[in-house]
Amino acid sequence: MDNVIPLSEDEVAALRAWFTTYVHSFPQDDAEMAQAFSLKEAHSLRVRDEALAIGRSLNLRPDQMRLVEAMSLLHDVGRFAQFARYRTLSDRKSEDHALLGVRVLEEEGPLDALAPQVRHLILCAITYHNRPALPADESEPCLFYAKLLRDADKLDIWRVVIAYYRQMHEQRSTVIEMGLADTPGISPAVYEDLMSGQIVQMTHINNLNDFRLLQAGWVYDLNFPWTRKLVQERGYLDELRTFLPDLPQVEEIFSTLRARLAADHHVS
Ligand SMILES: [Fe+2]
Repeated sequence: MDNVIPLSEDEVAALRAWFTTYVHSFPQDDAEMAQAFSLKEAHSLRVRDEALAIGRSLNLRPDQMRLVEAMSLLHDVGRFAQFARYRTLSDRKSEDHALLGVRVLEEEGPLDALAPQVRHLILCAITYHNRPALPADESEPCLFYAKLLRDADKLDIWRVVIAYYRQMHEQRSTVIEMGLADTPGISPAVYEDLMSGQIVQMTHINNLNDFRLLQAGWVYDLNFPWTRKLVQERGYLDELRTFLPDLPQVEEIFSTLRARLAADHHVS
């Protein structure tokens, strides 16, 4: 972690330019496609900002901050090919968008001129950004940047989905809802996951309420004090709660999640 990362400001500027060109190279055939692409482009830019803020909270050096910018800006690059090919942002209905992103970066070559170590760290963070859990057998720098990216990504996904849930009675989007049914109630397996202190398994998700609970359960998977502080300040948990039914199980889940967030927040 102490070695200076050989990534220059010019190289980061080249990656920014590549990203913009790549994203705009996709034909926007219809409104749904245009919506998916602009959603993911804006998300990428905001995740970059969230990641840089986490980096600042950790007093990262300028070279580390450049790496943070590069990996966060590119983390969802697979989303564009995913939507263009499969017309969905659901990995379950298509393929893993992180691995697809790594393939895009290898095929399109924007990382080719970078130092191998830098390329490795960028690809590593991207590869693991959407996994249910991080692997144990990766290098410490790889895991550090993956953790930072995962926190930044969650901060912005909370923002996007909450803004969506607020207005979904006016305008629905299958892109964001991933085709899940807006049926009443929650799945017992989702309740069990969360009450046992675990994040929700994708295979347990049966409706939109389950999906909202999966998002609430991300408080179990935060890595940095800065992120927990922002989740509390922005009131993400309380707001997600308002989009779920008034059931005793939902109340139990949220008191467990709130207690966990507060506890983690105070020790840090
Ligand atoms: Fe992603």
